[in-house]
Amino acid sequence: MSKNVLVTGGAGYIGSHTVLQLLLGGYRAVVVDNLDNSSDVAIERVEELAAELGGNLSFHQVDLRDRSALEKIFAQTKFDAVIHFAGLKAVGESVHQPLLYYDNNLIGTIVLLETMAAHGCKNLVFSSSATVYGWPKEVPCTEEFPLAAVNPYGRTKLFIEDICRDLCRSDSEWNIILLRYFNPVGAHPSGYIGEDPRGTPNNLMPFVQQVAIGRQPALKVFGNDYSTKDGTGVRDYIHVVDLADGHIAALRKLSDPNISCEVYNLGTGKGTSVLEMVAAFEKASGQKIPLIKVGRRPGDVEVVYASTKKAEHELNWKAKFGIEEMCRDQWNWASKNPYGYRSPNLNLN
Ligand code: NAD
Ligand code: UD1
Repeated sequence: MSKNVLVTGGAGYIGSHTVLQLLLGGYRAVVVDNLDNSSDVAIERVEELAAELGGNLSFHQVDLRDRSALEKIFAQTKFDAVIHFAGLKAVGESVHQPLLYYDNNLIGTIVLLETMAAHGCKNLVFSSSATVYGWPKEVPCTEEFPLAAVNPYGRTKLFIEDICRDLCRSDSEWNIILLRYFNPVGAHPSGYIGEDPRGTPNNLMPFVQQVAIGRQPALKVFGNDYSTKDGTGVRDYIHVVDLADGHIAALRKLSDPNISCEVYNLGTGKGTSVLEMVAAFEKASGQKIPLIKVGRRPGDVEVVYASTKKAEHELNWKAKFGIEEMCRDQWNWASKNPYGYRSPNLNLN
C-alpha cells in the first residue's frame, strides 16, 4: 500500500516540486498550506502534471497554528511521515517583524509536532537552511560546522533544529531528518510550476528572471570587492527538482529505525559567483541582463557551498543538474508565466 505523507507548505516553491516527485514516486500526499505566500493554482498544476497519480493528492487551506483544523486532518488520515516546509522565509522582513517570524515559524512547528505526537506519527523531514552556518570560516560547509543565527529568520531555523534534537533525545520513537538547503533555483522542466515570489524578489534568480521579462530594469549586483574569482558573492545553487528528490531520499532514510535526529546538506558542492550565474542565464535565455554594481548587501556572506559527502553516502542522493539546466528551466518557467501563477492561462501539453 502506498505511504501517506503530510506536506506542510506544499503549495510553495520547494513544496510544490516535492509534492510532484512524491506523487510520481507512488506516495499519497496531503498538503496543508495557508496560501500566505503561494497559490492554489500550484496545487492544480501539480495534480495535472502527475496525470493519473494526481488523484493521490489532497489539499487543505489551513494555517498550522490552527490546532483544531490540523487535529481534524490527522484524525482523517494515518500519516507515515510529515515533510515540514511551511514557514516565512524573507530575511529582511524577519529583521523588521521578528515576532511575526517567531509566531509563525516556531508556534506553527510546535503545534505540528504536538499533533504528530498525539497521533503517533513521529517521522519528520524538516526544511532547514544553510543560513545556520552563518559566515562559515571555511568551505565546503560540513554538517559538523558550528552553527550561528545572523537574523530572526535564521534563528527560527536554528531553534527548530534544536527543538528537534531535544525531542529525539526525550523520546527514541522520533525519527527526524533536518535538511539544510543551499540555494534552490530553477523550475520543473515542464515550465508549469516554479517560483512565484510576492512583491519585489529578494533573491538573485527570481530577480534576474524579472529583469529578463522586463518587469525590472536591471540587476543590482551586491558587492564586487569580495575575495572571490570575480569579486562577487559565491553560492551553491541547486536545481529545485534535485532538491525535491533529496526529500524522497530522506523519506526512505526515515524507515531506518536508528536515525534519531540526523542532518544533511542538500547542495551541489559547487560554488558559482553572481556574474557566472548571470552569464549562464543570459546564455540560456538569449536575454541581456543589464547590471548595476552597488555596495555589499548588509549581512551577506562572501562564499558558501556545501560538502555533499554525507548526503551522498547516507541518503544515496546526489544533485544531477548544473547551472545550465537551472537557468534553462528558470527561463522556461519565466517566459511561459511572466506574472507567475497570475499569468494568463497556460495549457499543459
Ligand atoms: P515558500 O514561501 O514558497 O513556501 C512556504 C509555504 O508555507 C508557502 O506556501 C506558505 O503559504 C506556507 N506557510 C507559511 N506559513 C504557514 C503556516 N503558518 N501555515 C500553513 N502554511 C504556511 O518557500 P519555499 O522557498 O518553498 O521554502 C520552503 C521551506 O524551505 C521554508 O521553510 C524555507 O524557510 C525553507 N528554505 C527555503 C530556501 C529558499 O531559498 N527557497 C532556502 C533554505 C530553506
Ligand atoms: C538568501 C538568504 C538566506 C537563505 C539563502 C538560501 C538573504 C539575506 N539571505 O541568501 O537566509 O538561507 O538565501 O536560499 O536573503 N544578489 C545580488 N543582487 C540581488 C540579489 C542577490 O547581487 O538582487 C547576490 C547576493 O549578494 C549573493 C547572491 O546574489 O551573493 C545570492 O543571493 P540570494 O539569492 O539572496 O541568496 P543568499 O545570499 O545565499
